[in-house]
Amino acid sequence: MKRAPEQAAASKGLVVPRSVAVIMDGNGRWAKQAGFARIKGHEKGISAVRTTVTECAQLGVSALTLYAFSEENWHRPKSEISLLMKLLERFLTQERATLMANQIRLVHAGRRARLSPKTLALLDATIALTAANHGMVLCLAISYGGRQEIVDAVKTLASEIAAGHVAREAIDEAAISERLYQPTLPDPDLLIRTAGEMRVSNFLLWQIQYAEIWVTPVCWPDFGKRELHAAFVDYGQRIRKFGKVL
Ligand code: IPE
Ligand code: IPE
Ligand code: MG
Repeated sequence: MKRAPEQAAASKGLVVPRSVAVIMDGNGRWAKQAGFARIKGHEKGISAVRTTVTECAQLGVSALTLYAFSEENWHRPKSEISLLMKLLERFLTQERATLMANQIRLVHAGRRARLSPKTLALLDATIALTAANHGMVLCLAISYGGRQEIVDAVKTLASEIAAGHVAREAIDEAAISERLYQPTLPDPDLLIRTAGEMRVSNFLLWQIQYAEIWVTPVCWPDFGKRELHAAFVDYGQRIRKFGKVL
């Protein structure tokens, strides 16, 4: 008999966060260490995405947000950007079976303006295909920036105020949160960053307010179940105070 996700996790000593966000970093360094071109690291990174997505879904995570391409990543060489977009397009088609088999619903966070019509079409088609799935939500942050997201939310709010639909006095934290790219997703409980950098690189600036941060020196292509479980075990030992005295 298939066990409930919570039971499976508990038996491994893991505490499964409701919402997880991952800065998948170190593809280039992994490739360099192995003597390959950077793109090999990105290719290998796709397998790591599959492993983490399916494991999170099976363990009962409600929302997983993956940082796939930042607004600042548009400043990379054109050749690397186009290869990254090709890999993303391949992922959006090849992983459909995995998403369906695991009842995963895909959503996007980020700006659409600079994505090509082909990328957008594949993204939208996969989002539509998985729209009725009732398991984990997989949010791909593509052409995403945390500051840009806040700017976009404030612009929306400003137009609504100018049109007389919202009163200035009604601006509060909820009013901003409701206008972010994916307002229904719970804020991350756990933020994972691979490849050792101790920074957030413009990721989910509003939402990580009280996220627990876990950084591993392991580069993203080598990140597997073992590292994910280690993060969840460590998360389970954190004392979350949210500013209060316990
Ligand atoms: C993460 O790996 C993937 C993206 C940012 C798209 P990097 O490409 O940043 O790898 P490093 O940081 O150069 O090793
Ligand atoms: C963050 O990694 C962006 C993604 C993982 C998509 P970067 O490699 O772009 O971040 P920095 O430049 O090291 O801060
Ligand atoms: Mg990097």
